[in-house]
Amino acid sequence: MSTRPSFHSLPIPHGRSAALLALIPSLTGLVPALASLPPAQAKEVRVYSGRHYSSDAALFQQFTKATGIQVRLLESNDSTIIERLRNEGQNSSADVLVLVDAAKLANAAADGMFQPVGSAALMRDVPLDLRDPKGRWFGLTRRVRAFAVNPAVVNPASLKTYADLAKPALKGKVCLRNRNNVYNQSLVADQMILRGDRAAATWIKGMVANLAQPVFTSDVALARAVAQGRCGVGLVNSYYVARMLSGQSGAADKALAAKIRIVYPNPAHINVSGAGVTRYAKNKPEAIQLIEFLTSPTAAEGFAKGSFEYPLKGYGNNPILQRFGSFKPDRLSAAQLGAQNKAAVALMATNGWK
Ligand SMILES: [Fe+2]
Repeated sequence: MSTRPSFHSLPIPHGRSAALLALIPSLTGLVPALASLPPAQAKEVRVYSGRHYSSDAALFQQFTKATGIQVRLLESNDSTIIERLRNEGQNSSADVLVLVDAAKLANAAADGMFQPVGSAALMRDVPLDLRDPKGRWFGLTRRVRAFAVNPAVVNPASLKTYADLAKPALKGKVCLRNRNNVYNQSLVADQMILRGDRAAATWIKGMVANLAQPVFTSDVALARAVAQGRCGVGLVNSYYVARMLSGQSGAADKALAAKIRIVYPNPAHINVSGAGVTRYAKNKPEAIQLIEFLTSPTAAEGFAKGSFEYPLKGYGNNPILQRFGSFKPDRLSAAQLGAQNKAAVALMATNGWK
């Protein structure tokens, strides 16, 4: 039985993107195995990606067009990819590992999955707080954990900081996603560092006491519940609501999203998706070139644009995001959040966040 993954080659022929993108498989049940593929003629870079946005492929195509380097992409969820990489060890075909969330990036770095990269372009283009201080991974996009508010239930003006979710006035009106979700774990890590463990514990207990209903398993389900007035306020990554507003997920979601107000806590907790060169990369120069491209000013809005995330700098040139307004990031780095992850999960469990 082969344990090796297969890849999809980009670029995708012009005009057929949508159809071919649908063929990008998950990691399970892949055929044919890599070994059976014909040998590559051109330079290439092999990417394992935990991102799940069909628009990502367009940026890889742009890279191939600019450099002649073919991108071979394997997409799945973060944990499947990490597991796969671990099993493959030094035989891995991955050159670049893309993960969503600071904690996952930090954990992968701690497990030795990346190698440090010295690149003047990356140092210049990726702000210090959005990359690993040791150069093992680099942020690609920013995402903000925001309040999704139903103004008919909760006054948006009453929500200024994450701490406000624990106010007794919100009893029966707060909705949360489950503890298992890394977005919330990173938010708790953030609050522990900024406010201390005791304040964070009290905050969690307060939010749990305010819950309108059991925890959700996805940000989108939570956003819909807010829109329907089943929750007055919940925490979501704002790009989910942006995507609903764009109509990408259908007319019903678009209509629901119109009832949601996005409010950015001040200061706001910022998370990242990011990439690094794998420890056993066979195409290291191409891997570095790809990450440099993805973070360069020319492609800076690339990933962010298609997924309604924010670019590394600025707020993005997108009418929906402009409607959400600006935000003021708190002073924590992605690396700090990653280091605090285990303690955050433990604090959530102890204080009743299911
Ligand atoms: Fe997400």
